[in-house]
Amino acid sequence: MSDPPPIVTSIIGTGSYTPERVMSNADIEKIVDTTDEWITTRTGIKERRLAADGEATSDLAAIAARRAMDDAGVSADEIDLIIIATISPDMFFPSTACFVQQKIGAQNAVAYDISAACSGFLFAIQQANQSMCSGASKTVLVIGAEKLSTFINWEDRATCVLFGDGAGAIVMRSGEVKNGHKVISTDLGTDGSKTDILKIPGGGSALPLTCENISERPNTIYMEGQEVFKQAVTAMSRSCVHALEKAGITQEELSLVIAHQANKRIIDAIAKRLGLSEKQTFINLHKYGNTSAASIAIALDEANREGRLAPGDNLLLVAFGAGLTWASAVVKW
Ligand code: UT7
Repeated sequence: MSDPPPIVTSIIGTGSYTPERVMSNADIEKIVDTTDEWITTRTGIKERRLAADGEATSDLAAIAARRAMDDAGVSADEIDLIIIATISPDMFFPSTACFVQQKIGAQNAVAYDISAACSGFLFAIQQANQSMCSGASKTVLVIGAEKLSTFINWEDRATCVLFGDGAGAIVMRSGEVKNGHKVISTDLGTDGSKTDILKIPGGGSALPLTCENISERPNTIYMEGQEVFKQAVTAMSRSCVHALEKAGITQEELSLVIAHQANKRIIDAIAKRLGLSEKQTFINLHKYGNTSAASIAIALDEANREGRLAPGDNLLLVAFGAGLTWASAVVKW
């Protein structure tokens, strides 16, 4: 008897949601000692979105999820797995995924969160892929969602200018190749020796919040920007090469590269190393800043809606974040 054909997994719908409130660089100039010129030239960011008070990460995620399900033509009861990548969960527990399960009415799903910072959405795609390839699930909602504004120190100009809120989602399915879509290869990595350069140090078991330390805001983002920049360029470039090798395609065969939207200079440096043209890279960080796990998910949905993805296109997704973590995925659209 011949072996059964390998299970194919594909992305059959995309969706995203960014909150209505826009905070421009001019608005931030009123809060900290910075300028639109500094933020624009050092990062490429012009504005970011902030969730409303009372709007939690799961609210952003649920809207993005419904949009992805509409795009896929999939009903909530068909979803059998929900994975949410986030570092700004509604609470430590229950998982944000459980709140989203309830909000979208996906009662047949198993739901859980993963934490891999800005690489989280690609880690989640990898997990979804493996779950489908093992036969454990068939229709998976993969979401990257963040309300990072909760964890920003609005007195720290080095970090507060960088981040924003938002959510993006995809529906993945096994065995169904819609317009030829499929996930061809993934490459993930972590380096726990550099946990110190990017973190939210307080609020967990290592450094609980107390009346004494709360004024120092240990529950907000700390980053050694230059070191993170260097690590990001090196790790993302290397991961792209590995994912391309596994997929058996070359840089020239890539239609579009969607990199984590942290800094335009990082994306330019990776493009230079890989010999990519400007046309091959997608940028939307000028509108949203760095939305961590949501960044690639939102960009993928925008690229889809803007008609930047044609059937048969080779797409490379690549991310980098705290941990350190990095990840790439090559997808046939
Ligand atoms: O999402 C996870 C991955 N995250 C990233 O990939 C972020 C990686 N890092 C970066 O994108 C960049 O390092 C930053 C955008 C964070 C900073 O850019 P930089 O070119 O590395 O600037 P710097 O940290 O070396 O700071 C240069 C100067 C400093 O002043 P002095 O010491 O030269 O006088 C800073 O104090 O810029 C100053 N500075 C600012 N000035 C105006 C820092 N932040 C600001 C600001 N406005 N917002």
